[in-house]
Amino acid sequence: MKSRLNEYVKPWVNDIEAYIPGKTIEGYVKLASNENNYGPSPRVMDAIEKAKSVLHIYPHKDDDVREKIAGYCNTKAENIILGNGSDELLDLILKAFKGPCIGLNPSYSWYKIAAGILGEEYLEVNLNDDFTLSSEQFIDKSKRANILFLCNPNNPTGTVIPEDKLREILDENKITVIDEAYYEFYGKSAVPLLKKYDNLIVLRTFAKAFALAGLRIGYGIANSNIIDLLYKVKMPFTTNSVAQEAAISALDDLRYTESRVNKIIKDREILFNKLKQKFRAFRSHANFVLIDTTPIKSKEFYEWFLERGIIIRNLGKFNGFRGEYCRISVGTSDENRAFIRALEEL
Ligand SMILES: Cc1ncc(COP(=O)(O)O)c(C=O)c1O
Repeated sequence: MKSRLNEYVKPWVNDIEAYIPGKTIEGYVKLASNENNYGPSPRVMDAIEKAKSVLHIYPHKDDDVREKIAGYCNTKAENIILGNGSDELLDLILKAFKGPCIGLNPSYSWYKIAAGILGEEYLEVNLNDDFTLSSEQFIDKSKRANILFLCNPNNPTGTVIPEDKLREILDENKITVIDEAYYEFYGKSAVPLLKKYDNLIVLRTFAKAFALAGLRIGYGIANSNIIDLLYKVKMPFTTNSVAQEAAISALDDLRYTESRVNKIIKDREILFNKLKQKFRAFRSHANFVLIDTTPIKSKEFYEWFLERGIIIRNLGKFNGFRGEYCRISVGTSDENRAFIRALEEL
């Protein structure tokens, strides 16, 4: 029988370039997905163990988790929405609000893919050569868009947008998403701006600093009218009960996360200084470092480490930029030393 797939598929779905996650191979050091390789705190592990006894009932602690997060963010529970990772919140924003959308290039690739899935136009503004943002250019092009995606610190560059530029962009009064997945490594947040701007949505995750990537839990912080709209388009129960218990315990044990984050920041500087001796490296405010591997091809650079049991992220070329890029996540101190040894042999 002749396939009729092409008649049935939504035309824009054909154009989507599927998301490619960082490779994971058992036994390899993984520095490819900006995870926190120290893992979560022992208190979180205990909470996960206890959560086993409630697996037969639907997750029911959304309100407790929202309350807890509100305390962490110095806001109210009505300003918090939970998601199955912060990726789910991007999806909810795109479901609730009308496009076109606009984002930075390069930036977290899921914004464009998530917009494409819902058939929304996605415009891009190239960052400057050093990956800083020209806010005039962004504001100019965003006149055509309704939803603005900013990532601060930006993945994969590690660069940040200063608050005065954020304010200029927010003054345009578009739905403005500031993705703070790496907030804990930077320390500065747009959350205080929520008092002035009801068009702002800040996204955060437990996947990075809190080392809970496998449990899929993230959250959004916004004006309660936005939160209510996002809850309308959200499937129930997307944050599972184990993740809920883990998130509460992680926030009960902030000192543990802070100590690991501080270690990662120190190690990031060591890694940056080593990389900078050989390549063009970009100063990062997150838990990874981006480099231009020129004169080596990024694929060759990536393979050099893969052959030595270390997985990094080969990003290749960025549209509109010279150079070829790889991103290296900061692992544990031992893992970073292994990476640096392999780098020195290169
Ligand atoms: C900027 C940014 N936002 C969101 C995510 C995904 O977060 P989550 O695991 O909470 O869906 C990532 C993961 O790499 C990211 O880099």
